[in-house]
Amino acid sequence: MKLWGGRFTKETNQLVHNFNASISYDQRFYRQDIEGSIAHVTMLAQQGIITSEDRFAIVNALREILDGIENKTLVISDEYEDIHSFVEATLIEKIGDAGKRLHTGRSRNDQVALDMRLYTRDEVRHTDELLKSLLEVILRIMEENTGTYMPGFTHLQKAQPITAAHHFGAYFEMFKRDRQRLSDIYKRMNYCPLGAGALAGTTYPLDRDYTAELLHFEGATLNSMDSVSDRDYLIEFLSALATIMMHLSRFSEEIIIWNSNEYRFVELDDAYSTGSSIMPQKKNPDIAELVRGKTGRVYGALLSLLTTMKGLPLAYNKDMQEDKELTFDAIDTTKGCIALFTGMIDTMKFNPQVMETSAKNGFTNATDAADYLVNHGVTFRDAHGIVGQLVLHCIEKGIALDDMPLEEFQAVSPVFKEDVYNAISLKTCVEKRLTKGAPSKKAMAEAIKACREYLDGSGIE
Ligand code: ARG
Repeated sequence: MKLWGGRFTKETNQLVHNFNASISYDQRFYRQDIEGSIAHVTMLAQQGIITSEDRFAIVNALREILDGIENKTLVISDEYEDIHSFVEATLIEKIGDAGKRLHTGRSRNDQVALDMRLYTRDEVRHTDELLKSLLEVILRIMEENTGTYMPGFTHLQKAQPITAAHHFGAYFEMFKRDRQRLSDIYKRMNYCPLGAGALAGTTYPLDRDYTAELLHFEGATLNSMDSVSDRDYLIEFLSALATIMMHLSRFSEEIIIWNSNEYRFVELDDAYSTGSSIMPQKKNPDIAELVRGKTGRVYGALLSLLTTMKGLPLAYNKDMQEDKELTFDAIDTTKGCIALFTGMIDTMKFNPQVMETSAKNGFTNATDAADYLVNHGVTFRDAHGIVGQLVLHCIEKGIALDDMPLEEFQAVSPVFKEDVYNAISLKTCVEKRLTKGAPSKKAMAEAIKACREYLDGSGIE
């Protein structure tokens, strides 16, 4: 059953129908399609374009169709081209001529623009909620680990000591920005395209602002051609999802390294690990690896849609139908990854002893030894050279700076005194870093407080 048979004299070729049809995937927004239609006829009746009897019949029948789909008594048939055709045909079958008035002053171009926007708007919100749960877990881990020392890395080489709280705090900031991006996108996309018609509006006296209000939009879009051909909000959303995945992927990479036999900083819970079919000893971080791996397909969706859109003349072109499968896949993938990742880190255990030993063994206090000299009048550049020599000496002896006898310190620079041991202890190295955003307990307490305040007050709308 088609919406557009009139000017055709032949049946559509079956392969053409299959190639053209979108119902296998756009049935996902049946609810949004029906809600949009209910708002549309409510507005049509208010404007006197249809009678209130027709509105009543249409709204009731649309609600029955919605219930039918939801309780599975009504099956969405793939004989139809898309979800819009299915809903309209089912409506006409139920109530006859009144149903034929539903599409007055509307095109599938503004209809699909509306449906996709409504669907995406909900998904932006869901994604934000999942990120909020992830941030709750990250914050709990931060609160519990302000004294869990570990090496901080640059170039994946031990650099300076930090704490697990500080390291997780970095990810808190990343996912916080991701949420801010989502809420910006939400605000920008929250305008209703319905009433744009095929491209040039309509001669019926529609009240577009009323339709927008019924569907909880901020207002109606301003240009009818842009309304049916704008997919910027999807590109922005895909870009935000790609950035979330990039953050999850970096975090996953670190967890894979920390969980490795060499590092043993963390241990993943059995429920979030998998085994090997041949090697009985294995416990693999597959979830983290899959999150890292799936990042590629979300990037792919973003690039696909950018490419699909780049050559399209105004206004609607069928190419735009391609926005759906890849956006749906990117949404499902990202949401799934956030949820699994949250469970994985929520159940993960730290090995604080191993982490601390690792921080002690990598000369992560070399900067602090140089700072000690600077505090005793040596220039930083000279201090850097002196400590460099000391490190070389320690490497030859196979010991840490802290384990070197005072005479050996003094042989390189007489400035060193007994108090150097305290000055370069792991605890001092971390706790003296008091600048805003640094890892000391004191600075972290401030950061944690700010994170808590942010989290309690955050959310879309
Ligand atoms: N399935 C179509 C899409 O997703 C719906 C709009 C169809 N419009 C049209 N003029 N053929 O873009």
